[in-house]
Amino acid sequence: MKKRSLRDLPPQALDGKRALVRVDFNVPLKNGKVTDDTRLRASMPTIRYLREKGARVVLLSHLGRPKGGSDPQFSLKQIVPDLERLLGAPVEFIPDPATGMTVTRRLPRGGVALVENTRFWPGEEKNDPELARTFAALGDLYVNDAFGSAHRAHSSTEAVAHLLKPAVAGFLLEKELQYLGNLLRDPKHPFVAVLGGAKISGKIDVIRSLLPRVDELLIGGAMACTFFRAMGLEVGGSLVEPDRIELAKELLATSGKKLILPRGAVIAPSLERASEHRSVSIDAIPKGWAVFDFRARLLRAKTVFWNGPMGVFETPPFDAGTRAIATALVEAGKKGAVTVVGGGDSVAAVAGMEEQLTHVSTGGGASLEFLEGKELPGVAALEDA
Ligand code: 3PG
Repeated sequence: MKKRSLRDLPPQALDGKRALVRVDFNVPLKNGKVTDDTRLRASMPTIRYLREKGARVVLLSHLGRPKGGSDPQFSLKQIVPDLERLLGAPVEFIPDPATGMTVTRRLPRGGVALVENTRFWPGEEKNDPELARTFAALGDLYVNDAFGSAHRAHSSTEAVAHLLKPAVAGFLLEKELQYLGNLLRDPKHPFVAVLGGAKISGKIDVIRSLLPRVDELLIGGAMACTFFRAMGLEVGGSLVEPDRIELAKELLATSGKKLILPRGAVIAPSLERASEHRSVSIDAIPKGWAVFDFRARLLRAKTVFWNGPMGVFETPPFDAGTRAIATALVEAGKKGAVTVVGGGDSVAAVAGMEEQLTHVSTGGGASLEFLEGKELPGVAALEDA
């Protein structure tokens, strides 16, 4: 079901109104400084548009996974300097939503306020309607632009959307749904998906959902080892999920040859002894996988989706497979393919290449759940178009 978007609202619905915007500012921090501001930058189009239309912008987000209330290391106050830099405007910080109403009422048109980490209040993750009412009192309308959190039914993503009208999708959420939705609905063929990462268990639903839609599904990373074991190959000390070997057999048997595994690997006795690496074919012992043979398949594709690294990509030379995939995606894009990257680690692997890819999702778990065909509560709660 298509959702109503910010662009569907007439200017008078925004001018002078307090727009309560759920963003996903769950960004990495080191010593109180933001180390990757991708998610902050990704919310700028929505925030800038609201400011231009004269709205007073009140931002809501979680940060990290604080346990049992307020914790300075997860305070959103730490991101205020970056936000102010990107906006070129001051940001008023609201330490407690329960007392924030006065601040939001005296914000000037185009002014911006940021509420403290929603997870400092225990009701947030329980989708507590009382906490949602507290949030709702900070706005006159609701905009959800937090695609990365849309798979969570929390007070700030779900319950609050039922309390304010209009309740619409921001530009980032809209864009994510469009690009990821096209992969499910109407991908141009050949459609090739590349899945990596350590475990089949986390990817099984997405494999099942994508298999009928893709022409080829390339499996790399440690996850491939469980498939190799299912094929009766020796994988040495590599990570294998013994309880998923039967499942891997079933997938191989029913995939109609769509599942493609690497033919070669970069191996080493251990990560600590990486300098002893050598390249072998898969009847030897894999550790981090080289996937150069995936390149040709990717270059034939008209649509590519990639999630999950092809090995321990933080440690050379095991980063080779992941880098090769990133480069092949860029090359495929130059030949006209739609290239979509979804999810945490693979996003880090394409850092600096974003402009050369069609879409890099800001959602980790959210993009996977969406591609599994699941309804995202944060999206479902918004008004239909
Ligand atoms: C993410 O980083 O994937 C989102 O911000 C959701 O965070 P969570 O997994 O802690 O709910």
